[in-house]
Amino acid sequence: MRLVHTPAEFREACDEARRAGQRVGFVPTMGALHEGHLALVREARKHAQLVCVSIFVNEAQFGPNEDFSRYPRDLAGDAEKLRGASADLLFAPAAAAMYEEGEATRVRVSRLTEVLCGPFRPGHFEGVTTVVAKLLGLAGSSVAVFGRKDYQQLAVIRRMVKDLYMPVEIVGHPIIREESGLALSSRNAYLSADERARALSLSRGLRKASAAFASGERSATALRGLVHAEVVANADSIDYVDVADPDTLSVFSADVASGAPPSVGARALVAIACRVGKTRLIDNTVLGEDVLA
Ligand code: PAJ
Repeated sequence: MRLVHTPAEFREACDEARRAGQRVGFVPTMGALHEGHLALVREARKHAQLVCVSIFVNEAQFGPNEDFSRYPRDLAGDAEKLRGASADLLFAPAAAAMYEEGEATRVRVSRLTEVLCGPFRPGHFEGVTTVVAKLLGLAGSSVAVFGRKDYQQLAVIRRMVKDLYMPVEIVGHPIIREESGLALSSRNAYLSADERARALSLSRGLRKASAAFASGERSATALRGLVHAEVVANADSIDYVDVADPDTLSVFSADVASGAPPSVGARALVAIACRVGKTRLIDNTVLGEDVLA
């Protein structure tokens, strides 16, 4: 696996592969890699001959009181894992290379960023779309793989790529979970044993909603209530537990005119963001689509 640090080297490697008739696959990450990330790398391999991964802890997407400075960093360990997953190229730029002196451009997607995590993390999605636009600009024509763990991020990036006519095919990959149900996350490293046990309430809640949906429950209020009950009993605070349209992300709420309770259709996104200890955890499932064991 080749390790490159400059944007020019990354771009040139992708151009060279395309000149040789190869497809470029790309997996952007912030490092502290786990099996969830490696599953995206393996997925990229199904679509491409040159599989590139970036590791860049993008300060622009962290809020002032978030964990940018303590975000886990282990480039040597990550490179080893990527070699094991047969990645071809690792792009690990310095902050000053991605945000050069004089840079003045921000990419902002509206609507989809105004719900779920949006109000709780002002500026977060703008930081994500700005850096992902830069990274996709360097990769060029390619297949980029993102996880459904960050369901809203995936929807926002799909919108950006479509709206800006970027020559990139976006592939979404299912959430990789531990046997216990806990969705893998670099931030799980922050959890104590007690917090880890309480963190299982997220996937447990989603499984309950999934089972109720399978038995015919279609009330958004009832489905949300099943998840909320699990999470409220275990988390230290809740940002949201929402049932939303999986495509527009608009939250199912009571009909304003009639006051009729909301009822979901053939598919519904159930999404959670909460804190266990100091750690912010997110999880989700799409009822009618995902299978939760
Ligand atoms: P990061 O949190 O490192 O995640 C990189 C990719 O791995 C994202 O597409 C994320 O959805 C995916 N991922 C993480 N945990 C996963 C799991 N358990 N199952 C499946 N996929 C999982 O997301 C980011 O970095 C950044 O916002 C980034 C897009 C790199 C922009 O800075």
